Amino acid sequence: MMYKSLFILGRQPAIGLAELESVLGGAHIQPLGDRAALSDIPANEIPFGRLGSSVRVGAIIGEMDAVQWPAVSRTLYKVFPSLLHEMPAEGKIKLGLSIFSLPIDSKQLFRTGLELKKLCKQAGRSVRLVPNSEPELNSASVLHNQLTGDLGIELLLVRGSNTTYVAHTTAVQDIDAYAARDQGRPKRDARVGMLPPKLAQTIVNLAAGPLESATAHTVLDPFCGTGVVLQEAAIMGYGLYGTDLEPRMVEYTQQNLAWLAGRGTTVMPHLEVGDATTHTWVPVPQAVACETYLGRPLSSWPNPDKLQEIINTCNVIIEKFMRNLASQTPSGTRCCLAVPAWKSPQGRIYHLSLLDRLSDLGYNQVSFEHVQAAELVYSRPDQIVGRELLVIIRK
Ligand SMILES: C[S@@+](CC[C@H](N)C(=O)[O-])C[C@H]1O[C@@H](n2cnc3c(N)ncnc32)[C@H](O)[C@@H]1O
Repeated sequence: MMYKSLFILGRQPAIGLAELESVLGGAHIQPLGDRAALSDIPANEIPFGRLGSSVRVGAIIGEMDAVQWPAVSRTLYKVFPSLLHEMPAEGKIKLGLSIFSLPIDSKQLFRTGLELKKLCKQAGRSVRLVPNSEPELNSASVLHNQLTGDLGIELLLVRGSNTTYVAHTTAVQDIDAYAARDQGRPKRDARVGMLPPKLAQTIVNLAAGPLESATAHTVLDPFCGTGVVLQEAAIMGYGLYGTDLEPRMVEYTQQNLAWLAGRGTTVMPHLEVGDATTHTWVPVPQAVACETYLGRPLSSWPNPDKLQEIINTCNVIIEKFMRNLASQTPSGTRCCLAVPAWKSPQGRIYHLSLLDRLSDLGYNQVSFEHVQAAELVYSRPDQIVGRELLVIIRK
């Protein structure tokens, strides 16, 4: 396959890969090393703002059968000048360098920066190099130094097993926009948890499936809480249907979506109070994206009996919900349910037992080409209760 674009995946690369497969189709994606992926779709055709679990996309400008820095840097110096020709004729260029999975020390990195500056000067351009404290720049640095702007260049060098790719970044994750959506909304509630907007976006993508085959979906969140999933679904252009057991939560969602509408997003939500284990949803949703009840928050690892009790309680509620949903939805309805999974201090993951009975409950689990389903557990290093992203289709 002729690869045209390169993605740098987020903190949990398996989740980033599953999202790319879901949106672009598995046949268009190939993992590269443990942090990146290649695609045959041109970078400028990627709807990058919709992706929650990739941090950069770039256009590939070079590929080499080399993984040692001296050989890699020689190719880099060959392809770099062509980028300069595409820049606006006037103005100081801002240049950054990010290197993934390649052995490079700080001296080599420094010398490479100097060499690239020299090439800029030879082309008659003044340049400012963004300093690296690590081989890779973080998203904040790329964003705030405007390296994806008209006068910016970030070079991405990513190693696979025997090959290295050079790309230049065309879009970076807009961490400021996510923070504004997260912290700006009027109603937040630490008790129901704080779902990060970028994870909500990924949940919606996993539920909606390939973009090219997506029709005008309405996304249902039957555990809508403060409405983070619906908020992201609205920004992505979906119709919204939200229900929650607690009237106060439905009110919070209403207020948060009204706030979003005030910022220019078209939002026409259908919201009602309902117990997800018994509610009848009318009209029947075309896709279901939610973070279910996660059980009580835990600050320390519970004893085995307590843990079993917590898991059982969640299992009963979520299983009842899934049976209720299956009784109403047609074959082919796709869902991404973020359900709880518990991570012990030794790193062992405890899953809901219903995961072993998905077929009896009326669902098939979606299989990804490049990711195992069990890898899709979102959790921060210090968290006990993680979120397992269960991607399923009504049989
Ligand atoms: C983990 S929170 C979801 C938070 C949500 N993602 C947000 O953006 O705030 C789970 C939600 O499920 C609701 N809930 C718990 N049991 C429920 C049930 N049986 N039916 C419907 N909602 C339920 C709670 O009220 C809570 O709002």
